[in-house]
Amino acid sequence: MGGVGSGWEDGGGEIMNSGPFLFCGILLALASSWWGVIVAPRLQFGLSSTVVPAETGQHYPAGRPGLAQQGAEVYRSEGCNTCHSQLVRPEGFGFDLALGWGRRRTVAQDYLRDNPVMLGSVRVGPDLANIATRMGFGDTNLQPVFVATQLKHLYHPRAVTARSVMPAYPYLFEKRAIHGRPSADALKLEGAFAPEAGFEIVPKPEARALAAYLLSLRSSVSLPEAPVIPPPTNQVAGAKTNSIPAPAAPAAKK
Ligand code: HEC
Repeated sequence: MGGVGSGWEDGGGEIMNSGPFLFCGILLALASSWWGVIVAPRLQFGLSSTVVPAETGQHYPAGRPGLAQQGAEVYRSEGCNTCHSQLVRPEGFGFDLALGWGRRRTVAQDYLRDNPVMLGSVRVGPDLANIATRMGFGDTNLQPVFVATQLKHLYHPRAVTARSVMPAYPYLFEKRAIHGRPSADALKLEGAFAPEAGFEIVPKPEARALAAYLLSLRSSVSLPEAPVIPPPTNQVAGAKTNSIPAPAAPAAKK
């Protein structure tokens, strides 16, 4: 009996002795994951602030105007990010740049003002990281056209894109009787999408905010960590790519 007893005691003693090692191992595992998941990203991105790219000379990213900020909430509550990503993958990781979804890949800097960041992970529809610039409406004069197109598309995607599978959001709009003159912001709808005579479709504030948000989606300014391809500069090596016409060269001597 005594022999058996001492055997048990020996076993217990071994476990007791490895206790500090176990403790250190568990502590190390916890500490390293805490470092990797919390501290390291915090050090890497937590202190990021706006930058002033040479291309624009303005702080980037600029804060969203109030209406666009409200639109971000509508985007989130309608779940637009279940079908649309806001992430342009780098070259060699898909065809995003080839599809013209961005002038460059998107980087952490682009999302500095977003809270929460609505990256999305499924692409039933096209990426929207750059929708405003992509549709050529970065130009201030054309912004009302962009907004009108987006509103019409939200009211009924097929009124803009034939056979679109994007759901319609008619509840973001109001159908009302026209008294006197039609509203300036009534949607220009044709054919089957137009309301009956004497009625008009006008956007509710949520729809207006959502369109303003879409207009604010343009992560296309050249950044040091993600230069625009091709770079928007005139100082490219070789005169062939120079977009400013070179002064007339003196006639070649013969
Ligand atoms: C069920 C998936 C789905 C949902 C949800 C969805 N979309 Fe779409 N979206 C699409 C598809 C598919 C297209 C491409 C066809 C088209 O242009 O209508 C598209 C196109 C677009 C476009 C035009 C993009 C381009 O490159 O021409 C915009 C802008 C857009 N969606 C915004 C939104 C917004 C804002 C919401 C939320 C209110 C939303 N979408 C919700 C599927 C979806």
